[in-house]
Amino acid sequence: MWTLVAVAAILGAATPFAGGQAPAGAKVVGGPYVVNVRAQSATVMWLVESGQAGLGTAPNVIEKTAPALHAERVNFSGLRPGATYYYDSFGGDAGKGSFKTPPAGPAQFEFVVYGDTRTRHDVHRSVIAAILKYAHPDFVMHTGDLVADGNDTSLWPIFFDVERELLRKAAFYPSLGNHERNAKNYYQFLDARPYYSFDWGSAHCIVINSDIGNAGATRAEKDAFWEAQTRWLEEDLRDSQKAGFRFVFAHHPPMSAVKRRQGGNPHMAALEPMFEKYRLSAGFFGHDHNYQHYLKDGIHYFITGGGGAPLYDVDAPPAGITRKVEKTENFVVVQVNGAKAHIEAWKPNGEKLDAADLGQ
Ligand SMILES: [Fe+2]
Repeated sequence: MWTLVAVAAILGAATPFAGGQAPAGAKVVGGPYVVNVRAQSATVMWLVESGQAGLGTAPNVIEKTAPALHAERVNFSGLRPGATYYYDSFGGDAGKGSFKTPPAGPAQFEFVVYGDTRTRHDVHRSVIAAILKYAHPDFVMHTGDLVADGNDTSLWPIFFDVERELLRKAAFYPSLGNHERNAKNYYQFLDARPYYSFDWGSAHCIVINSDIGNAGATRAEKDAFWEAQTRWLEEDLRDSQKAGFRFVFAHHPPMSAVKRRQGGNPHMAALEPMFEKYRLSAGFFGHDHNYQHYLKDGIHYFITGGGGAPLYDVDAPPAGITRKVEKTENFVVVQVNGAKAHIEAWKPNGEKLDAADLGQ
């Protein structure tokens, strides 16, 4: 349900861009997409190429080109919780989209989780097509490694082109992967923060930056970042004890069925006691390019890194906690209904891979 008043407010605010007006030579190369969606606010964005630069090892020889990009950003406040909003951004049908705001109380809703979309764009495209075909997400969670190198501006238009039809109909909540390289592009193009949380109905969703390796230039800077984030995480978990579900999203997983990667993320494994103390419902991760599902001390851990990056073997499933592992592209659909949540993992061909139920 949405009101004409709300739509008129959005259309009015977007008027400067109606009719496809853009600076001379500039073109839209991504979006529209909507980020930072909260019960009463949202940010509509699109990516603009304002020019290109060429580079070569001799005069007048262009061996490499890259676009100059910036993101346009329109903030809306005073929105109603649990409403659908339709917007008009950079002009024409291509600039139109919609999104939902989080419902304030208990409600039925659905979200999708996937990650590691950074390479094999045709596979990434098939995953997005499958989500559009088989799921009906109210919002979209990405577990990181959106692109192969966050600093390379030639890659972001590809990401947004592949994601276009999904992101113009549901709010997007990204996580920072190691391939983003902690680049300014990630923060600017997605109006993102390294870590944040939000409520959607009965669920409290927490996104953290697990990429400690790029979080600072020195060991001391990296450690300081991790300590600050961990303190924030504990406070956020403690403050969300009344939520029906607590979900954490990050790129690097605490455990792995990929033998050569086991023990590779000790900083994430060290968070497990905190997850247990504050009764995390489930964690969603990426980085390993396959599907993994564990149940450990009452907490479900899902690794959904099958969004396009080259697949990894699942050659050493951890004993005692493994529910399902498979070397396949995948995405995860979470349906919350009151005190219950149903989670399914899917292959892009529509085959169901796994299922789990949370809650009483
Ligand atoms: Fe990664």
